[in-house]
Amino acid sequence: MAQQDDVFKKIVSHAKEYGFVFPSSEIYDGLSAVYDYGQNGVENKNNIKRYWWDAMTLLHENIVGIDSAIFMHPTIWKASGHVDAFNDPLIDNRDSKKRYRADVLIEDDIAKIDDKIEKEVAKARKRFGDSFDEAMFRQTNERVAKLVEEREALHERFSKAMNDGNLDELRQIIIDREIVCPISGTRNWTEVRQFNLMFKTEMGSTADGAMTVYLRPETAQGIFVNFLNVQKTGRMRIPFGIAQIGKAFRNEIVARQFIFRMREFEQMEMQFFVRPGEELKWFQTWKEFRLKWHKALGLGDEKYRYHDHEKLAHYANAATDIEFQMPFGLKEVEGIHSRTNFDLSQHEKFSGKNIKYFDPELNESYTPYVIETSIGVDRMFLSVLCSSYEEQQLEGGDKRVVLHLPAPLAPVKCAVMPLVKKDGLPEKAREIVGELKFDFSTHYDEKDSIGKRYRRQDAIGTPFCITVDHQTLEDNTVTLRERDSMEQTRVSVDDLHKLIHDRVSINSLLRKLK
Ligand code: GAP
Repeated sequence: MAQQDDVFKKIVSHAKEYGFVFPSSEIYDGLSAVYDYGQNGVENKNNIKRYWWDAMTLLHENIVGIDSAIFMHPTIWKASGHVDAFNDPLIDNRDSKKRYRADVLIEDDIAKIDDKIEKEVAKARKRFGDSFDEAMFRQTNERVAKLVEEREALHERFSKAMNDGNLDELRQIIIDREIVCPISGTRNWTEVRQFNLMFKTEMGSTADGAMTVYLRPETAQGIFVNFLNVQKTGRMRIPFGIAQIGKAFRNEIVARQFIFRMREFEQMEMQFFVRPGEELKWFQTWKEFRLKWHKALGLGDEKYRYHDHEKLAHYANAATDIEFQMPFGLKEVEGIHSRTNFDLSQHEKFSGKNIKYFDPELNESYTPYVIETSIGVDRMFLSVLCSSYEEQQLEGGDKRVVLHLPAPLAPVKCAVMPLVKKDGLPEKAREIVGELKFDFSTHYDEKDSIGKRYRRQDAIGTPFCITVDHQTLEDNTVTLRERDSMEQTRVSVDDLHKLIHDRVSINSLLRKLK
């Protein structure tokens, strides 16, 4: 665990050092849980968004996109349930005056038991060596069995309290488990209270006439309230989907793990409108398609897991998360939910407008059911970054840090380097950049030794380096170096475009989704 923490710290500082992610407002000591994307981060993020957008709108002729406003009529959030129920349970420590999420304190306590179990297993593995039967050990070791029992009981009690919204019981668990404030070390806790996560602001010029509006906590409601606009103007027939990418805001109490939980973040959401009764079939279809989308990136199939929800929100009839193996554990990156007709019905009720669809095949009107796929851009970015980072020990004692980013997501696709800064090599290199730059993000680099220049590109995940040398002037060939294998091949300048394109285009990912 400690080792994983170290790796994660290195990834966070690498992200800053190489222009991927900066803490927001850093010269003013930062703003908690808010981050800025740098020159490389923004390109990487745009590529993730492009991959998602194209997978939705190009590959599905029945999905179209929109871009709705962040500000929306406040009644929308009443109808959606966010005003009344978009809460986290809060608890304060009276001595440190620090505020915590009660559920996170308990989850951390559960994680401590997990750590103890893993330590026992690791100790036994060391003791028994090759003959170690881990499954057998987990089943039969008395200490492990006790810990597992303790964990299960705690987990069950915690889940019940959360599902029942029982704040007193959450506090009682914290007391019973003797959980202390990490700052003061005391157990001097307040009651647990609900805290609404939406940011509020005022719209209008005078204090009297101003209206309270919210910064949207999800992009989905912008899709629901535009359902009829898109359906009518696009002459869409059910089943069809509406996709959107945009900012969302949540006043998260516990903000940690870098860009995993932010107060301002970006979502890519798609609502797929279907006939009532057909929703579970479509839920299964989208569940499979979304995992395929993730796996096509080649980050490692074994790093993904579905987490099917056992307890469902009252309006949902199926839900699953796609979890990804982050350095700090398996974590939700995307949610796929069958939301019945809850949202459209609520908007119909609160707006007083008819939001029904007339199905010409059935010759009847109904409120469509909805399958939602909802993925955080920043979490996706983090999963790509974490699984790409590697410190490699090279032959001859050299070291390199390399980002094995999927080539279509890399911020820079190729770097062109003259071997020396004379003899017409820079001019020839510039000429090559001048051609490639129309299709690929291309760097020109002539500073330092060629080895150092390769390392700089490895560190930002550039899939290809192109070296121009004296032979280039004679036969129009260059050295093409591949990032992961570091293999160098001599290729004609005329072939560069195709060679690079085949590896770095978003199309190469989309084709895997057929
Ligand atoms: N419309 C459904 C919805 O918003 P959600 O599970 O609350 O569902 C969907 O959020 C996705 O948005 C999550 O799977 C996650 O990737 C991302 N997300 C949610 N809260 C986030 C936060 N505070 N910071 C970064 N990403 C977040």
